[in-house]
Amino acid sequence: MSKLYVVGIGPGSADYLTFKSKKIVDSVEILLGSKRVLDLFPEFEGEQIKLDAVNIESQLKLAVSKVIHGKPVAILSTGDPGFSGILRPILELSVDVEIEVVPGISSLQLCAAKLQIPWDNTNLITLHGKGLSNELLEVIDNGKPIIILPNFKVDEVIRFLIDNGVDEDRQAAVCEKLGYPDERIVKKSLKDLLVEKFSYMCVIVVF
Ligand SMILES: C[S@@+](CC[C@H](N)C(=O)[O-])C[C@H]1O[C@@H](n2cnc3c(N)ncnc32)[C@H](O)[C@@H]1O
Repeated sequence: MSKLYVVGIGPGSADYLTFKSKKIVDSVEILLGSKRVLDLFPEFEGEQIKLDAVNIESQLKLAVSKVIHGKPVAILSTGDPGFSGILRPILELSVDVEIEVVPGISSLQLCAAKLQIPWDNTNLITLHGKGLSNELLEVIDNGKPIIILPNFKVDEVIRFLIDNGVDEDRQAAVCEKLGYPDERIVKKSLKDLLVEKFSYMCVIVVF
């Protein structure tokens, strides 16, 4: 039996792709990933399977069956596979194949680096698969910056915080399209950020 590689490719630009991840991609016959992720490897000559939110479970099972039939497969995740990435859905399939996880640079890490935040003393929160929950409100006043992967429009997250009593003058930052040529980092109060337009690809920090 071959191996299933679960590979982090970083926030999306080739600059943040690790040597190890690149080596794994060069060694496999099949790549699975979202269009954004597959686009990072235009020179890949093997089979490409596009993952999207609708077909994810069946495509993961297909990948596993290819591994069982002896094909080396890499499933690519943006950032790190272990933080709101592809690792959890794969483990939930409880498949009987050998898995190797190759870490990538998370969008959270790049956000912390850009804003010069030592992230060993922050709250790291993902809203993926959870909704706008109390988890966020529970840490909002614990004195540490909160780095948030939103899974919502930025204005919805900010509105949620203000509606739940967070001071609208509190400082925050939105890091959009990190690592891409059109990267944008905006640091302002919550109320000033509320009126800005951002894409889906953002990390929010509340200071
Ligand atoms: C499904 S999560 C995957 C997170 C990924 N595993 C990681 O470690 O960064 C996708 C979310 O990550 C964030 N994200 C991923 N890449 C990004 C980038 N280049 N710039 C800003 N945010 C990014 C966005 O919030 C996006 O909605």
